[in-house]
Amino acid sequence: MTQTRHILVTSALPYANGPIHLGHLVEYIQTDIWARFQKMQGHTCHYVCADDTHGTPIMLRAEKEGITPEALIQRVQVEHERDFKGFYVAFDHYYSTHSPETKELAETIYGRLKDGGFIESRAIEQYFDPLKEMFLPDRFIKGECPRCHAKDQYGDSCEACGATYSPTDLLNPVSAISGAIPVRKESVHYFFKLGQCGDFLKTWTRAGHLQSEAANKMAEWFEAGLADWDISRDAPYFGFEIPGAPGKFFYVWLDAPIGYMGSFKKYAELKGIDFDAYWKQGSDTELYHFIGKDILYFHALFWPAMLEHAGFRTPTKIFAHGFLTVNGEKMSKSRGTFITAESYLKEGLNPEWLRYYYACKLNGSMEDIDLNLEDFSLRVNADLVGKYINIASRTAGFVTKHLEGQLDPDFLASADGKTQMAMITESAVSISKAYEQRDYAKATREIMRIADSINEYVNDQAPWKVAKTENPEKDLLRICTRSLQGFYALSILLAPLLPQLTQRVAREFFGMARDFQWSDLECSPRRTLPYEHLMTRVEPQKIQQLIDSNRDNLEAAASSGTPVAATIPIAETIGIDDFSKIDLRVVRIVAADHVEGAEKLLRLSLDLGTETRTVFAGIKSAYDPKQLEGKLTVMVANLAPRKMKFGLSEGMVLAASDDRGGPFILFPDQGAEPGMRIK
Ligand code: MSP
Ligand code: ZN
Repeated sequence: MTQTRHILVTSALPYANGPIHLGHLVEYIQTDIWARFQKMQGHTCHYVCADDTHGTPIMLRAEKEGITPEALIQRVQVEHERDFKGFYVAFDHYYSTHSPETKELAETIYGRLKDGGFIESRAIEQYFDPLKEMFLPDRFIKGECPRCHAKDQYGDSCEACGATYSPTDLLNPVSAISGAIPVRKESVHYFFKLGQCGDFLKTWTRAGHLQSEAANKMAEWFEAGLADWDISRDAPYFGFEIPGAPGKFFYVWLDAPIGYMGSFKKYAELKGIDFDAYWKQGSDTELYHFIGKDILYFHALFWPAMLEHAGFRTPTKIFAHGFLTVNGEKMSKSRGTFITAESYLKEGLNPEWLRYYYACKLNGSMEDIDLNLEDFSLRVNADLVGKYINIASRTAGFVTKHLEGQLDPDFLASADGKTQMAMITESAVSISKAYEQRDYAKATREIMRIADSINEYVNDQAPWKVAKTENPEKDLLRICTRSLQGFYALSILLAPLLPQLTQRVAREFFGMARDFQWSDLECSPRRTLPYEHLMTRVEPQKIQQLIDSNRDNLEAAASSGTPVAATIPIAETIGIDDFSKIDLRVVRIVAADHVEGAEKLLRLSLDLGTETRTVFAGIKSAYDPKQLEGKLTVMVANLAPRKMKFGLSEGMVLAASDDRGGPFILFPDQGAEPGMRIK
């Protein structure tokens, strides 16, 4: 008998300004599988989460929609909870960071940090939008990249050349909110002195709380030095006001992780659970945070440092995962691979297909995981339908027809029963270890190995032939009991991945009065009810429909959480003389190639009719180079050549983009010839 563990587990809190998409689901499905596995073991496991509701993007978005932030976050929370439920992500409690519990805990933690000398205030200079009368976060300032001079780049990094910089380095900055030219302005900010936590953090990050890849990343960050963390933002801001600092608000990332505590606090109150038992220093309960690798810094540095110095326990482990790619590439709206959870369900795809597929790919590391849509159909069809369900569909009918639904009650004691159980119990030990370590890829491999061996048995015994013999009952009872005992065990082993399906198997197929527990592996089913179809195959045309419904979806883009308004203000008026300074020409793309080491760029050879130019264009995310060759497009032919990291760029091709998608290259109408001037 293993001891009952007391576990509190969380997934990162999704931002309340965008829909749940398949990338998010990597995390929520991964955590849900783990939490379900722990519960099946008989452990006490609480899985809590919440919407992350504060910050400038949410405030502006509400403003744009003409509603209050409170109304916005309420609506989005309903949508998020609906989507999670659709994928059987079963939180014990789902809450909001905009809650009295989170507010109170944020104030407590801040107060204790302040008392401990970990908070400092000083004036800093930042860009301020004089029209909107607000300070501008980096992502809300646009301008020209100081390195490659690409226009319309964000205040923190350039999408064309990949440079990172501070917003004050940007050339010709404009506010992405109002279009106004921002001014520099001073204001007092509050800082958490992370530098003072160096000793604690160095010990903590090496004490087995992190995956080794994450611990290595920490070492790099220590090397770079721990900078103080700016935890305040000026009004107007949607968030919690800092006690004793009117007009100053906690930065969203200060209260976001406290939202884990806030959600649990509310839940504990509702259920009569001892909150302090889970959060006091020295607690013997376990605390796990599942997160994406992009937010490791917050969870492995700020969060433990805050907790430690505010007198709370620190996490037992942080489990970071990689990012989702679709067909080997970043999710993209123009390719239709930015797939929302809602659209997946609406198109009638089975959520358990995705749960299973993700499980096959997740191994507990921080590597990115790829959803290859062809592989998705093949894998689900081969494993779930072809191996697992196949066992029941090939044997169950004989039990209801010839045996009145009764299985052999003494099967487990028979020689046959013992052999099969020995194999399953042995595998179950390593499968449960794999679940515990979040190596679901290994778990599914081992489960499918068992399914293979049972299918082999069914093939060898061919119950469909036996059924045609005289008095087949005895043999059928033996064959079908063994096969269905196998199916029963597989269902238990798969239950964390396929909660809905295995619930039906337990109740509607084996006639049990409850869902599976891990310990049910030691028992055997007594009877089966008439077999009903359990899972259909993935039809590739459904996947195509899904892609089509997500492609260039303006609505999806508008609600994607991209912070900037979809329309960019029209630039200052110019005269025709100004315009005629720009020499725009039709050119033929004679060659297009990837540039080694460049994330965004393609190298284009452009034929102007009289000469050939090389241009680096930031269009890699949207175009397969081979598809461009031979096409006509438009270039700025008299742009001064620019030296870029990868070579000299002799001009620029025209492409459209904004937050709704792109880039989209401009193609001239039929009949145009290389060298023609655009006037
Ligand atoms: N609000 C913050 C988290 C605060 S936790 C105290 C946030 N929200 S998010 O909506 O952007 O992301 C929520 C989680 O989903 C994060 O762990 C993030 O890493 C994960 N993912 C978001 N997009 C993802 C992919 N494309 N692929 C895999 N995980 C991704 O970050
Ligand atoms: Zn640049």
